[in-house]
Amino acid sequence: MSLKFEIQPATNATSETERTAKLANPGFGRVFTDHMAVVRYSQAQGGWHGARVEARSNFQLDPAGAVLHYAQEIFEGLKAYKRDDGGVNLFRPDANARRFKSSAERMAMAPLPEDVFIEAVEQLVRIDRSWIPGGEGSLYLRPFMIANEIFLGVKPSAEYIFAVIASPVGSYFKGGPAPVSIWVSENYTRAAVGGTGAVKCGGNYAASLRAQAEAIERGCDQVVFLDAVERRYVEELGGMNIFFVFDDGSLVTPPLGTILPGITRDSIIALAKDAGTVVREEPYAIDQWRKDAASGRLKEAFACGTAAVISPIGKVCSASGDFLISGGAAGPVAMGLRKQLVDIQYGRTNDPHDWIRKVF
Ligand code: PLP
Ligand code: COI
Repeated sequence: MSLKFEIQPATNATSETERTAKLANPGFGRVFTDHMAVVRYSQAQGGWHGARVEARSNFQLDPAGAVLHYAQEIFEGLKAYKRDDGGVNLFRPDANARRFKSSAERMAMAPLPEDVFIEAVEQLVRIDRSWIPGGEGSLYLRPFMIANEIFLGVKPSAEYIFAVIASPVGSYFKGGPAPVSIWVSENYTRAAVGGTGAVKCGGNYAASLRAQAEAIERGCDQVVFLDAVERRYVEELGGMNIFFVFDDGSLVTPPLGTILPGITRDSIIALAKDAGTVVREEPYAIDQWRKDAASGRLKEAFACGTAAVISPIGKVCSASGDFLISGGAAGPVAMGLRKQLVDIQYGRTNDPHDWIRKVF
């Protein structure tokens, strides 16, 4: 299916002086560009229609709109990177489009055709190109979909709004790629078999906030969740997947099922395998993690995701005590994979898996 986007540039676009000031130190997710892409869905009107790129503005939502009551909402996260030659790269937008579709299916929402997802993202990057920071910054793109039928009965909505907004970003963590500390949540779990852990719905994040707040109260950067059945096996962080690096050079990462199938996770597995590294997707228990960190069998651990890229984990804190990994320092495997991945994203090296989609 293809939809033609109507392009209506903003009449009150940010001045260059103001934009330059905003781009100087954007942080994460607080600065936004001038435009948004919007596509609407209505069963009554025969499906997806009204594709537009227009000035970023408020939505008009009826107080009985379904998303406000039953949280039928999904989202994605991907980035546009400025190359040294001035061109712009997207990293694996097809994978985000696919995951968005599977999120929609799980949440009983109208699946958005993958080409419409990619076209919306590209159109927004084109019109807001001047908002892409240079250096190590990037333009974080946030596609999302909300249920918009005006009805209080509990059922899949017959109307949706799909939109993409964009936010110039620096590093997700204040310390950049410096090692982060994580808090093991023993009171709260994130996902159970048959639940929504494997899809990117807003509700998963709402349910993680109390655990994340606990992490902050304990002086940690992020929460790590354990499995909901045995409360033993490491699953993932609030917004990132996790990898472990062993003294024989192998990598372990928790298997898919109840975790989000991260695109960064998948890319790291591919890059590591290209280099001949053994990668095992298997459960890893928190008590084993503690033992392996103490014995030296575990060399490194790192978190990964679009927002955070690859962040070494320096310290693990829990109710039963804290422990350090690689003495709390960033390890060479995490930093090497980070450089390799970032170099591909910014087009500084070749792209053996055809992950880059050039917008310009
Ligand atoms: N796990 C969770 C819960 C996330 O929110 C994210 C971020 O998107 C990830 C993992 C990493 O996914 P990706 O690498 O596709 O960004
Ligand atoms: C991402 O990495 O894209 C995420 O969604 C993580 C977080 C900002 C929710």
